[in-house]
Amino acid sequence: MENLPKIELHVHLDCCLSYDFVAKRRKISHEDFIKNFVAGDSCSSLTDHLSFVRNELELLQTEVDLRDAIIDLFNQFKSDNVIYAEIRFCPLLHSEKGLTPEEVVKILNDAIIECQELYNIEANLILATLREYSPEQSQLIYDLAKKNKHKKVVAIDLASDEIKYGIGNHIGIYKLAMLDNVNRIAHAGEVKGPESVWETIENLNPSRIGHGVKSIEDSKLIDYLIEKKIHLEVCPSSNLKSKIYPNLKEHPINELYKRGVSVGINTDGRTMTYTTLNNEYQNLINVFGWEKADFLKCNINSISASFLDNDKKERYIKQLINSYR
Ligand code: HPA
Ligand code: ZN
Repeated sequence: MENLPKIELHVHLDCCLSYDFVAKRRKISHEDFIKNFVAGDSCSSLTDHLSFVRNELELLQTEVDLRDAIIDLFNQFKSDNVIYAEIRFCPLLHSEKGLTPEEVVKILNDAIIECQELYNIEANLILATLREYSPEQSQLIYDLAKKNKHKKVVAIDLASDEIKYGIGNHIGIYKLAMLDNVNRIAHAGEVKGPESVWETIENLNPSRIGHGVKSIEDSKLIDYLIEKKIHLEVCPSSNLKSKIYPNLKEHPINELYKRGVSVGINTDGRTMTYTTLNNEYQNLINVFGWEKADFLKCNINSISASFLDNDKKERYIKQLINSYR
């Protein structure tokens, strides 16, 4: 699997720092890195899992650090043979040392353009607002997404803790996004049940759902996702770390896939979850006996649900088919 090309649509910049990146900035042993940056076995919930982001955010507050984090992530893409990625981040979380959100977007935008050339890997950016944010904070993020639409920003997302916060503050910007033709994603159905996915679909009208795995509990919802071609960005190991399922065997990815839902395979937070895309693929081989054809299908699902234009999608689909054949 390692040499086969992959598409990754759900990966957070502030959750994916490698040990090397951290060790260049802090005197830290690998053992302490694991202790402080990786959610351990005692991690008991999504809330617990997300608490580890803080350590990474501290290291993402300057232009050099943000640019290096993109390089760090492209290095990880290279190891996984990712050929196209959509990288998400929240522009309001990197201003602790004076960068403005506009500057943050520009730095990441330019770093991606630079890395695309260097690595021959294509990537775009998704701007995430957080559930706990006010409508005004979300508006700020939305304005940046709209302003940078013709650069590397391709969509908005809603992230953070589904258990603790609702979606009410963000309905306004998603309505604007619909009017302005700005692509929409939202995390939902990760911890809460199918009602959270329904609520998100009805109010935010996303073309993709981050996780959405709890949809498996409602067959009407499954039919709806299939009919409307709403893609689920599934991140299996991330869900296991958050103790949403006890092990991969109990995780619904295989059933969602077999029932015909458009699912893709993603890492989410490579550091906190301590995973790679290769690792995710290997786990699916080990537990569900997935074969090349299954991974090809999921990668075609992902590229089809990406925010690339149709010509590019066609080209990537051809590349995927040629490589997996
Ligand atoms: N859920 C919500 N917000 C997040 C996640 C997640 O899995 N990862 C990073 N931010
Ligand atoms: Zn996520």
